[in-house]
Amino acid sequence: MLVAGNWKMHTDLRGAVRLAAEVARRTEAPARRVRVAVCPPFVWLDAVRAALRGSRVLLGAQNVHPSDEGAFTGEVAAPMLAALGCRFVIVGHSERRHLLGETDAFVGEKVRQVLRHGLVPILCVGETLEERDRGDAEAVVRRQLDGALRGVTPGAPEGLVVAYEPVWAIGTGRTATPEQAQAMHAVVRADLAARFGEAGRFVELLYGGSVKPDNAARLFAQPDVDGGLIGGASLDAEAFTSIVEAAVQTTEA
Ligand code: PGA
Repeated sequence: MLVAGNWKMHTDLRGAVRLAAEVARRTEAPARRVRVAVCPPFVWLDAVRAALRGSRVLLGAQNVHPSDEGAFTGEVAAPMLAALGCRFVIVGHSERRHLLGETDAFVGEKVRQVLRHGLVPILCVGETLEERDRGDAEAVVRRQLDGALRGVTPGAPEGLVVAYEPVWAIGTGRTATPEQAQAMHAVVRADLAARFGEAGRFVELLYGGSVKPDNAARLFAQPDVDGGLIGGASLDAEAFTSIVEAAVQTTEA
């Protein structure tokens, strides 16, 4: 399992270092089957890396540009992220798709770029409330998967992570029910298995959208939920690490 914190555009420098150090301290005990990652804003990656040194908490970035370098003012390249010790890169988050207009094709370019540099994309997919109400949720998620993964070979299953994040559950306090999450995760699992064969069956599938300490265990207990992508609750070390603890309990149940 994997529990990853998406700090979005939150924290100041001191707060980021403190939060990282506190997450590192609270996850000291080895939990063999649960990996923990934090994805701070780009500008704190180096300081957070230093704060995490010697811990088992992995580092991730929240975005990347598809080119290795070039005249792309304000963008950040995959080799830069690799040089800072990032293992993961969040790609296709709904806030970027919906607020910043990222298309399926652009998300796909990013996925391929992240893989080319030996980093692991956390590919986010998920429908809006309107799409769900129209009965289009599955079709939207399948379209997003196809746009992002066509022509992609992840190699080993651990080379790719997919996060199902229904847009209506992000930052709203309204989480998907465990049954809703499981139903969509099964769709994603089947898509990946059809696409990648055996390797597709073992890709980690995270649920994201208002995961909190009090609902994490029920979500993680679903057979196709392999962890979580945590927004709001990842800004509080105690809440985040109790979500990690819920994942540890699941693997030991
Ligand atoms: P949330 O965000 O946990 O605050 O709903 C999740 C995400 O956007 O990844």
